[in-house]
Amino acid sequence: MQTSQGNGRDAWATRAGFVLAAVGSAVGLGNMWRFSYVAAEGGGAAFVLLYLGFVAFIGMPIMTSELVVGRMTQVSPVQAVKQLGGPAWGPLGVLFAFCGFGILSYYSVIAGWTMRYSLDALRGAIPADPTGAANYFGSVGTGMPAIITHVLFMVLTILIVVRGIKKGLERAAVILMPLLFFILVGLALWATTLSGGGAGYAYYLKPQFGELFDPTIITDAAGQAFFSLSLGMGAIMTYASYLKTKTNLAKETVTIAVSDFGVAFIAGLFVFPIIFHFGIEDAIGLGGAIADNTVGTLFIAIPPALLSLPIGQWIVAAFFVMLFFAALTSAISLLEVVVTAVIDSWGWERRKAAMVFGAGILLAGIPSAFNLNFLDFADKLVGNLFLILGGLLISILVGYRARDRADAELAQGLPNANLRQAWAGFVRYVAPPVLLVVFFFTIPKVWTVFKTLVGMN
Ligand code: TRP
Repeated sequence: MQTSQGNGRDAWATRAGFVLAAVGSAVGLGNMWRFSYVAAEGGGAAFVLLYLGFVAFIGMPIMTSELVVGRMTQVSPVQAVKQLGGPAWGPLGVLFAFCGFGILSYYSVIAGWTMRYSLDALRGAIPADPTGAANYFGSVGTGMPAIITHVLFMVLTILIVVRGIKKGLERAAVILMPLLFFILVGLALWATTLSGGGAGYAYYLKPQFGELFDPTIITDAAGQAFFSLSLGMGAIMTYASYLKTKTNLAKETVTIAVSDFGVAFIAGLFVFPIIFHFGIEDAIGLGGAIADNTVGTLFIAIPPALLSLPIGQWIVAAFFVMLFFAALTSAISLLEVVVTAVIDSWGWERRKAAMVFGAGILLAGIPSAFNLNFLDFADKLVGNLFLILGGLLISILVGYRARDRADAELAQGLPNANLRQAWAGFVRYVAPPVLLVVFFFTIPKVWTVFKTLVGMN
């Protein structure tokens, strides 16, 4: 991977290094924790179908746009948007950095849960019965236990971004990511043997036609596509800015998007049968129950299911260790956006930028570690609404403001003119109107969560 210090910019050693880092950024808690809870919140299969639609028709064109901007400008997103759009576009770069800051603040809390779960699984300290597991989540998910692991996770992320021990991380990711994938496939196969799982598959895979038009589900799906693909805040753009070779950016887009969707989809193939097998729909807020614990869906569903297996304790530990690594590679990309913005805009040293802003993120995450409603609110506001806004502005920048330059850049490595035209069509005519509508429909959802937070509901 790159070792960028100060303003000396390095490049990816290999194309594979770049793709791996981008997939590492995309595949994370979003694919499992967020995917299962948002799918549970919003209708199951209808959500999944809409999510797939957003990944394919909006997410992929925006991803290519970010790749194009990053590789073309070779500077941090904050500078890149100004370079392409003029000074008036400066605030978009600020929005990017703000999103990185905001998302990482609560992302780290959840990543902290994976650390706690890994260790407690090894100690045999996680209850195997569904009620016990839900209570366990209640006791370690918030308050002091959550703060401790949040701090640990942030310190680790900061150290990696400061010291650029990314090489080691890259090597670990090469082994652990495929391993995660195999564990997931294994779990999905095993889930087919669970009694009562049929209802879970139906919930997950058989859409109710009417729900496809439900604005809440549509906006959930759009937000999830952006979050899971790491889009809308310059993360992918940052990684692409270290790309020197004129590779085919459409191909990279497909690789990243397919891996990311695949992991999420397979996760759903065992999470939902498990939920219905154990009859814990209510505990996680399916079927209209009060959804206090919805954000904990994955963490409540996994332990009882896997602990029922012969070496369950080890499987639970392995699952959460993998998830922890997936979260770490994503967290690095979030902090990287903030850090490169500060380095580029204020000329700070990488070390100082990572430590000061990392500490700020650490503090900003404390409310989320104390109150899951706050975490939910931060996730809906920054991890959903603001990413959609970022994506909307990126599509306008690339589709209109810097259209010719973007097209010329894309042409390098993508000689097929028809494909290029199709891409431009989506960026220009599909993404902006759709994202504008999604943006306005997302506002009331954020407002509702806000009201819950401040007790107005
Ligand atoms: N995509 C990651 C996940 O699914 C999270 C993430 C990393 C992210 N970088 C991002 C989300 C940038 C939005 C924007 O866990």
